[in-house]
Amino acid sequence: MILLKKVEDLSRWLGKQRLAGESIGFVPTMGALHEGHISLIDISKKTAGFTVCSIFVNPTQFNDPKDFQKYPITIEKDIQMLEKAGTDVLFLPEVNEIYPQGISGLEKYDLGRLESLLEGAFRPGHFQGVCQVMRRLLEAVRADHLFMGQKDYQQCMVVRRLLEIIGLPTLLHPCPIVREADGLAMSSRNLRLSDEQRKKSVAIYQALARMKEGWGEGIWDEGVADISGKIEELTWEALSFLEAHDLRVDYVAIADPVTLEPLAPGQRDAIALVAAFMGEVRLIDNMSLS
Ligand code: PAJ
Repeated sequence: MILLKKVEDLSRWLGKQRLAGESIGFVPTMGALHEGHISLIDISKKTAGFTVCSIFVNPTQFNDPKDFQKYPITIEKDIQMLEKAGTDVLFLPEVNEIYPQGISGLEKYDLGRLESLLEGAFRPGHFQGVCQVMRRLLEAVRADHLFMGQKDYQQCMVVRRLLEIIGLPTLLHPCPIVREADGLAMSSRNLRLSDEQRKKSVAIYQALARMKEGWGEGIWDEGVADISGKIEELTWEALSFLEAHDLRVDYVAIADPVTLEPLAPGQRDAIALVAAFMGEVRLIDNMSLS
């Protein structure tokens, strides 16, 4: 694996691969890697000829400064994991390489409702930061394929919108959520949980699974036209379940999987999404109900 820190070196290197006819797959990350990240590398290796991973803890996407300061950094282990997975290039830039003009007064993107729904509402400015860094990374890598996790469901939607806005032909592949044996979605932030908190956090997965079960439980038998009562019941149950496990809930939602807006009457196709704090650590997860 080759480690590059400068955009210029990366562009030169990738230019050579392109000339040699290789397609380029890209996996952007903030490090503290786990099997969820590595699954993206594996999918990239099966799809593209050449796989680039970036590690960059992007300061502009942290709406909570404490979250930024405490973001886990495990670079030695990350490098070993990426080598083992067969990554071709690790791009590891410094902040001034990505933001040579500094991080204030950066450009803004029109993300429509994505910026006021769910994560957008609870993390003001977060998706602007994601777009600011992703634009710079995408323009540096100019990948054919981009691999991102459905764990960050709304982030995938935001990046799809960004690709349209900046007009890059890169193809986005949303990839399945990788979970721990007990069901908790893998996340770099799980490293910040105590053993007890870690155990209790599995309630997020369990709450989602209960909603999925409830969604299937014969509610369609009578051809339910107005599902708002069922949604209210399921989300209320999930909320109580999460709170009983010491989670402080930002939202529990059942939404349209394409727009994240509330469901239309009689709409079966749905996704359940949760964001909740365990102590100081904010965790998110989702599950298709369809
Ligand atoms: P990070 O949280 O490091 O995640 C990097 C990628 O790994 C994202 O696409 C995320 O959805 C995916 N991922 C994380 N946990 C996963 C899991 N359990 N299963 C499958 N995929 C998982 O997301 C970011 O970084 C940043 O916002 C970034 C896109 C790099 C921009 O800074």
